[in-house]
Amino acid sequence: MASSFAKTYTRSSVRVSAPATIANLGPGYDIIGMALNEPRDIVEVSLEKEGGDLVAIEGVGSEAISCDPKKNSAAVAGRAVLEKVGRDDLYLKMKIIKGVPPKSGLGSSGASSAAGAYSVNLLLGMPLRGEDLLQCAMEGERAACGSPHADNVAPALFGGVVFISSFKPIKVVRFDALKNLEIVVITPEVEIGEEKTKIARQILPASVPLQDIVLQTQAFGKLLVGLMKGDVVLMGEGISGDVIIERARAKLIPKFEDLKRRALEAGAYGFSISGAGPSVFALCSNNMGKQLGANLKSILEEEGIRSSCSVHLNAEEGVKVVS
Ligand code: HSE
Repeated sequence: MASSFAKTYTRSSVRVSAPATIANLGPGYDIIGMALNEPRDIVEVSLEKEGGDLVAIEGVGSEAISCDPKKNSAAVAGRAVLEKVGRDDLYLKMKIIKGVPPKSGLGSSGASSAAGAYSVNLLLGMPLRGEDLLQCAMEGERAACGSPHADNVAPALFGGVVFISSFKPIKVVRFDALKNLEIVVITPEVEIGEEKTKIARQILPASVPLQDIVLQTQAFGKLLVGLMKGDVVLMGEGISGDVIIERARAKLIPKFEDLKRRALEAGAYGFSISGAGPSVFALCSNNMGKQLGANLKSILEEEGIRSSCSVHLNAEEGVKVVS
């Protein structure tokens, strides 16, 4: 992938931010995701010659996140960069300001991983580009949930919509951000244990009937062709067409079927689970998001289930320097 990282910095410390993301987009389990305009995680880092890696963390849900540099996504990703470029003589002094809520399904660890890898790379003068940097960021995901999947970290790094076209070696295809569309996210307040993503991955079926594979392939084809042609109706049908992952995870999300039906009846192009959940999302036309969000929230309220609702855009930019 051609790199969009133009600037090289020679500074003693940097401050970068990386966005929340929606992974899978329905049928694209582990192979596609999109960057949202907000919220974002911020990582401030300097490289020291002594003292060991140090991590401080504050912000949304930070009490649930480890400061242990061997477990913290941003620090693990940053250290992976140091090791890859042969500078493991240096130590990280890192501060993470969480904006993306952990365990929500909005790529919280992906945002931290992307910001951690990018910030360290920047301090070193950008020796890594494109997929080489992505590979380091994926190590942050591995630390967070045991699996180095790239469908959150890749759009958090590169922005737009990113398709993971190969695992070994890791390769991506980036699409420009979708324009004139809104993305409504509903996050129901449900009991979430430790290791949410790990559990949401463990409940997936080990094998599936051939007919489901046919339908899933068809849905992913619609999503990809829709993206390539700018056909949002086709894209939305693809997003809504997941018959494998969504079917297994829907039971973890209260009123999932009702939310989906209502969203599509109201005119949303597509609806599915965001990442490993419990957030769900609807892709809809501009200026429809607020009303649709209120509509969906009321379904949960009627059952006494609290939720949060937010309306986003697909961000062109992924990780970036902030002042
Ligand atoms: N592709 C991942 C999953 C995203 O669905 O488990 C969540 O991290």
